[in-house]
This record gives sequence, C-alpha cells and structure tokens, in this order.
Amino acid sequence: MQNALIDQAASYWNQVATSAEQDLILRWWESPMLRGLVDATWAEATGCLHAGEYIRKVTGRQSLGTGISIGCGAAEDEILLLERGVLDRLIVCDISNEQLNRAEAFAASRGVDTNRLIRRNFVDLEQPLPEKVDLFYWRQSLHHMLDTEQTILWCRDNLTADGAIYCNDACPPNYMQWGDDVLHWVEQYRESLPREYLRSPWQKGEYLPARPAIPTVDYWKSVDPTECADSASIIPAFRKHAPAARIEFLGGCIYALALDDIINNFRAESDLPLLKSAMLADKLMSHAGMNYLFTCVINRRDFV
Ligand SMILES: C[S@@+](CC[C@H](N)C(=O)[O-])C[C@H]1O[C@@H](n2cnc3c(N)ncnc32)[C@H](O)[C@@H]1O
Repeated sequence: MQNALIDQAASYWNQVATSAEQDLILRWWESPMLRGLVDATWAEATGCLHAGEYIRKVTGRQSLGTGISIGCGAAEDEILLLERGVLDRLIVCDISNEQLNRAEAFAASRGVDTNRLIRRNFVDLEQPLPEKVDLFYWRQSLHHMLDTEQTILWCRDNLTADGAIYCNDACPPNYMQWGDDVLHWVEQYRESLPREYLRSPWQKGEYLPARPAIPTVDYWKSVDPTECADSASIIPAFRKHAPAARIEFLGGCIYALALDDIINNFRAESDLPLLKSAMLADKLMSHAGMNYLFTCVINRRDFV
C-alpha cells in the first residue's frame, strides 16, 4: 500500500518537474515581490541571511561533513551549502527522477564537483542509513513523510553526535484541512481587499470567493497522497523529543493561504504596500498561534 502511494506521488512530482512554466502567478514563491517579503520574514526570524549561516550559528560548526536532503527537488539551497563549504558531501534523495535530474543540472550549472553529490531515489525510513550523517536538510519535504514523528526519530538515530536537523517546512493541519478559526481570519482579510484583487486567474470577469475553497482529503489523496499526510504531528514531535530546541514560526496563513491564486492580481510595483499590509496581518496571526510554516535547526544533543 505504502509503495503504491509513493509511486503515485513520484509520478505527480515527475510531472511537476517537467511541466512548462506558466504565465499565471498562483503561489507565494512564484511572485518575486511576495517571495522577497517572505524571505525577509525568514531572515528576521533566524537573524541570518541564508540557511548555511543559520546552521553554522545554531550548531557552532563551520563545516558539517555529510548532509542528506530527502525530497530534495532541485536542491538549490543544499547545493549552495556545498558551494559555501557548510557541507563536504550531499546525498540528494527524491522519489522523482526528474527532480533528481534538476538537482544534478543545478549543481553542474554552479560548477559543483559532481563527486560531492550522491543520488538516491528512495531511503527506507525503517532501516538505519549505512553511515550516520551530520545534517538532515528538510525544505518543504518533511510534511510529505507519512509518519512525521517516526521520521524525526529516525533522523535523530541516524545523526552523528554533533549533527543537526534543519527544517524550513510546513506544519498545517493534515491534508491542509484548516479549521474555522483560521478560515474566518482569511475570509476577513480577503473581504477587506478591493474587489478587483479577487479576480479569478482562470476566468475573465469572474471572482474568487472571500472564503477560499479548501480541497478535500480525497482530492489530495487522488493527486498526491503524501501532501501534508501527517504535517500536524511535526511540531508536537519536536516539542516532545527535543523540548529545549528553538522553533521559529513563519506565519503563512495570509501569504500561503489567503493569497493563493489571487496573488496573480498583485503584479504592479504599486501593489507592494498592499503586500506589506498582508505580511503584517500574517505576522499578527502568527503571534496569535496560527502558523503554516516554520524553520529550525535542532542539534542531536537537543534530543532527550
Ligand atoms: C514540495 S516538494 C519540495 C522540493 C524541494 N525540497 C524544494 O524545497 O523545492 C516535495 C518533494 O518531496 C518528494 N518526496 C515526497 N515523498 C518522498 C519520499 N518519501 N522520499 C523522497 N522524496 C519524497 C517529492 O518528489 C518532491 O520533489
């Protein structure tokens, strides 16, 4: 059963990796303006300019030896860790061959020695790794693991004594089944926008509702059954097994939920102030405990 789910997810991600770029801007990372604001939120939360600096700050180590990125995609951040000397070697793992091809192509484009990259299609999370690693790198992929607490414990057990886990990931309710509290704030935010910002990106003359339609669990299971399959357990698992570790919450209920699809309508430079207000509302929701995304570096020694 698990293999069938993984095969389905792999074919979905092969498709994503090879699909042509589209003109529409539907997600926060596709909008250069919003992405800049989200990157600034990450920098403010961590006090660092990039993941390598954050990893060095929290681990106290300049170079960490071998790292592994599971669900690496194009591995752009991780390959920069090789370039910056934060890692000596990187195991890139993705169930999608097309994503691994992108990672190799990106490494080549940066002139990184390909002997420093080790390509893996699948890592069995029920077996120990052949050798312990110094860094687990999770960027938007831990939330694709089917049992996130077991994955976190498996990482702990496969880390060297002074190794660490880095995350820049998502912690929404499973399959993004947002509750009424978050949806209420999201709806109020969208209602507060001038109507033209709710224009449908697909149908001229149509508008999206103030309360976004939330895809069902069955929908996600039919598209990518790993999508947020057990994402709600990530933060409780870190809190339980590494209670002293610091987790930085990055908000996201506005920029990654309320602005989904309608971000297509914020393209002019003159929209920047409106996006800044959106980030402010997002931050307030984050302070009130409503968070979609988080980041952390957790040392092996932080685990109890
Ligand atoms: C949201 S993408 C993130 C990609 C990349 N880390 C990034 O930040 O751009 C999730 C990735 O996880 C991969 N994935 C899902 N389940 C996996 C598993 N069990 N093992 C390895 N990769 C997996 C998918 O193929 C996909 O490339």
